[in-house]
Amino acid sequence: MIKLAPSILAADFGHLHEEIQKTVASGADYIHLDIMDGHFVPNLTFGPELVKYINGVTDLPLDVHLMISNPEEYLEVYAAAGADLLTVHFEAVEEPEKVLNTIRELGILSAISVSPNTPVEVIFPYLDDADWLLIMSVHPGFAGQKFIRDSIAKISAARQHIDTQGVTCQIEVDGGIDLKTAPQVVAAGADILVAGSAFYKSGDYGEFVCRMREVTNPKKDA
Ligand code: DX5
Ligand code: ZN
Repeated sequence: MIKLAPSILAADFGHLHEEIQKTVASGADYIHLDIMDGHFVPNLTFGPELVKYINGVTDLPLDVHLMISNPEEYLEVYAAAGADLLTVHFEAVEEPEKVLNTIRELGILSAISVSPNTPVEVIFPYLDDADWLLIMSVHPGFAGQKFIRDSIAKISAARQHIDTQGVTCQIEVDGGIDLKTAPQVVAAGADILVAGSAFYKSGDYGEFVCRMREVTNPKKDA
């Protein structure tokens, strides 16, 4: 079954507690938190205090996406804030293997991400150290962007590598995921889908999750 991780960045921050409760009630599997530093990406969001707050009001696992420079300096603080999984960008680290292992030593899952302009093959040597591989299907920095179609080929290449090399890493896809693009990325081999705008603009989150499950599990009725 495909897992869903709504990105809280697209939620209504004026009613954050209610938004989290509604996200939990929708049947989503994780909450995706986009951390941006205004340096690695041209936007700023929130930091460990918000992760800590959200961790205090839900049992859903927190998938924390670090779009920051020098992520190795902040791993401990985000793990302590309640992250269940920490994603670092390949483009932001010099020693991916070391950073991924530090995350695992903190007792949480590790993930590595590639931005649209980075070939996915560059992270293949590090997949034994990563629980998830995050393929960005928009340029990191903002919610609400258009899905980049070239990502499909990257997902397929990663799926093939993982399946043929006996790697256990799961593939997460993030950016521009909606009811139309979700089946395409799942067909290419994605395991976990992030959805920001499509989820929070849907009006009925539970209905959205049901629809996503329908469109990403088409074989059920075959
Ligand atoms: C982009 C973020 C995404 C984004 C997803 O930098 O990493 O997680 O919030 O939002 P949508 O689904 O609106 O593209
Ligand atoms: Zn993200």
